[in-house]
Formats: sequence, C-alpha cells, structure tokens
Amino acid sequence: MKEELFNFVSIQLDRNGKTPLYVQLYDALREAILCGQLTEGYLLPPVRRLAAETGINAGTVVSAYRLLEKNGYIRAKRGSGFFVTDILVQSDEREDTREESTFLPHMTPVTDGIDLLSASPSPDYIRVTDFKRVINEVLDRDGGYAFGYQDGQGYYPLRQAMAGYLTKCGIRATADDVHTISGAQQGIDIVAKAVLSFGDYVLVERPTYAGAIGAFRSRGAKIIDAPMTEDGIDMDAVEDALRRFRPKLIYVMPNIQNPTGYSYSNAKKNRLLGLARRYQTLILEDDYISELDYSEDKLSPLKALDRDERVIYCKSFSKMFMPGLRLGFLVVPNRKRAHILAAKQQSDGSTAGLTQRAFDLYLRNGIWAKHSRSIYDVYRARHREMRALLEEHLPHTVTVYPARGGLTYWLKLPSGISAKRTAETLAERGVLVQEGSAFFVNMGLDRFLRVSFAAEEGDRLREGIRILGQIITKEMK
Ligand SMILES: Cc1ncc(COP(=O)(O)O)c(C=O)c1O
Repeated sequence: MKEELFNFVSIQLDRNGKTPLYVQLYDALREAILCGQLTEGYLLPPVRRLAAETGINAGTVVSAYRLLEKNGYIRAKRGSGFFVTDILVQSDEREDTREESTFLPHMTPVTDGIDLLSASPSPDYIRVTDFKRVINEVLDRDGGYAFGYQDGQGYYPLRQAMAGYLTKCGIRATADDVHTISGAQQGIDIVAKAVLSFGDYVLVERPTYAGAIGAFRSRGAKIIDAPMTEDGIDMDAVEDALRRFRPKLIYVMPNIQNPTGYSYSNAKKNRLLGLARRYQTLILEDDYISELDYSEDKLSPLKALDRDERVIYCKSFSKMFMPGLRLGFLVVPNRKRAHILAAKQQSDGSTAGLTQRAFDLYLRNGIWAKHSRSIYDVYRARHREMRALLEEHLPHTVTVYPARGGLTYWLKLPSGISAKRTAETLAERGVLVQEGSAFFVNMGLDRFLRVSFAAEEGDRLREGIRILGQIITKEMK
C-alpha cells in the first residue's frame, strides 16, 4: 500500500509483510532523512495526523518516532513536536553509542605461552607440499584466469565438487544451491545482511558463538536466546520465543555446539524444523566442525532433514584445514538465493579464484580425504587425552561438559570462582584460555571457561591443564 505524505515523501507500508509496521515506518522516514528529503529542522507531522493519514494506529507511529529519536535522527521539542536533527554533525556521536563490538580472540594467532585458546589445527598439520602441487597445477592449467574477477556465487567446478561432498553427508544439493564464501564468519555476516532488517529479532542458543552475536548486532538485530541442554536447545523456550517475538532467523549449531560441545537429538532437530515452518522463520545452521565427531553413530546435519527449504546451511572447514585460506560454503534455499548473492557481492565481490580452484583440485584428487582422515585420528586421540587430563588435574567441583567431538571442552567452575579472574591469573602464568562471557548475549555467569587442545599436545598440554587445576584449587581455598 502506498501513501503520499508531506508533499514529496512517499511511504510504502505492507500490512501483510513480516516486518512490523513501526519498523517499516522507521525505515521509510530514516531513508527520507538520509537522502535529504527531510532536512534538519523539518517538523514531522503530529502522531495522530500521521496515523490518520496512513491508516495505522497512533501507537505504531509513536514507536517509530521513538526509534528515530533513540538513534539520533529526530529530536523532541516540548510542546512543538519532533524535528529532524542535523545528522551530519551527529554521525560521529551516533557511532560512539553503538554496542561494543565483539572481538574474537580465537581468530588471532597466539605467539607466546601455552595456547589452550586457539580452536584451529596446528600449522604443523597443514600439508604444504600437497598444496604447492595443486597451486602449480591450477597456474599451469588456468594461467591468468585464476586471478580475474570470479563468479560471485563461486567457481562452478568447486560448487559441483562441494555438492557431491554434501550429498555424501545427507544433504541433497546441486551446484546451483551452493555458494562459496570467504569463511563461515562471512557466511553468518552475509546471511544477517540478506535476511535481517534493523530491529528484527534473531533467536540463538545460550551460550552461542561470539562471532555470530557480533554479526547480528552489527545489523541492528535484537538477539534473544534459549538455553542449550544436553540433547539440544530447550524447545519449550524456543516455542515461547517464536510466539512472543516472531524472530526472522534462528541461528543454531546442531552438531557439536560451540562452546558446549552438545549435539541435538534427531527428535529435537525435527521439532525445530516443525516450529520454523509453523512460525515461518528461517534457520541458519552453522556446521563448523561435524567432521570431528568422534562417536560411532554419526550425526546428521539439520539440513539433511529439511523438507521445507527452511534451513540455510553454513559449512566451514577452518577447524580441519587452513583457516587462513578463508573458504566456506552456504547451501541456500531457492527463494533466498538472489538476496544472498547480492549480499556476498556487496561484501567482497567473490572469494579469491586461486583459492577456490586449488581447493577444488584438493577435493577431486582425494588429498582432502587423506588429510581429513589423518587430522581426525590425531584429534580423536587428543580429545581422549584431554578428557583424562581434565579429570586428573581439575577439582571434582568443576563441571566438564561431555563433548562428543570438536577441539575444545567447556568448563563450569565451582560457585564463587570467577572465570575472568582465573583466565587472567592463568595468562600471568603463561597459559591462555577462552573466558566464557564472550559466548553470552547478555553477560552470562562469570563461571565458564573454554579450553582447547587444538594447538598443544604432550607435555605442554599436560602442563597447561596442571596449572589450570592448580589455580582453581587455590581460588577455592
Ligand atoms: C561456531 C563457529 N562458526 C563459525 C566460525 C568461523 O569460521 P571460519 O574460519 O570459517 O570463518 C567459527 C570460528 O571459530 C566458529 O567457531
């Protein structure tokens, strides 16, 4: 529906759309201000008049005005109404009032100390010689074409190879469904960009991956969470949140969740899909580590059970393979393909052609299969060793969450022991761990730590855990 307002600003409100009317009105007015159609000092129409002219209720207009005021686009003057502010003068101030951005320490190389922080494989396991060979093969075969602008959706042969790989994991996908991305972090970011508008709700697990919280926040989304339990997210809390907030997106890690290490039962996976269908919402499944599932009965991706095109599947290989290569994949429902492609192109045009071509050969020549088997064996053994070290050195009052795979363990310290202080004391002793508060949307309990066995082994790993146990025991006294 189209409404003409204030002579020259036209406002389109879709009463049947999913975006709340007040957010639509906010977006339209904000756009008019940013484009200079409504300039500094312009007096906005009184609430009742605007409500009557647009056929919406006064409360909706008030909510839109409040949001504009909160974000500095308009200012209330007592007795007179709302005026457009000088946005150019205020833009710096507005930047300063944004929520603190999320820094991701696990993505920064650790150069000193015992590293129980990094959650990606040690550079020693990267098959540099194999990679040299495939790079040379690409250069001999494709020459300068490897360096030109690439298809924004990704190098077609690699998308075909990925579709084949995913089919083996139970996901029915063709090359057209697959989008190459520059790492899963970018995948989350472009999904947020493609799906969310300012003020939309996103539902996440509690705790959840800090990088996702940062990406959703950067889009102005409101994040709500539901607790993780041992067999997946608390479904009653999910249903309640869906009913009350109608989130546009649910972000989950159904297999080997970061940071808890928990995985969803198939019953919960199916129930989540059913709820997403009932409440017409999309799910973003982050599969960042399922190759490192050390159990016999292998987990199925949520996407493999998706009969209703509700799930955007995001695949990272960073935990297995050269995280610095910045490569990942999305499987996107047909109706969202154009949005995702546009967001990707606006983000970085395309993922580097040389990298995509090299990884394509890596997959096709069977090097990947060989590499992933050897990485799997190394980390399965270390996962067991780490569990034994934690049991040996930590007081029994520390809860070690029973991860069935991955590269980390999630720990809950006894009541009264601060995780923040423990992490700081550990750093002073030369041991780095991830303190848990980064994984919570709203400051969680100061009692969680995530410890990784990705980068250390043998004596150094033992020493790190020994010091951790010693510090917690001392704190308890
Ligand atoms: C749960 C989760 N998702 C996504 C990412 C980002 O992965 P990538 O290196 O592919 O960007 C990480 C990185 O640690 C992660 O832990």
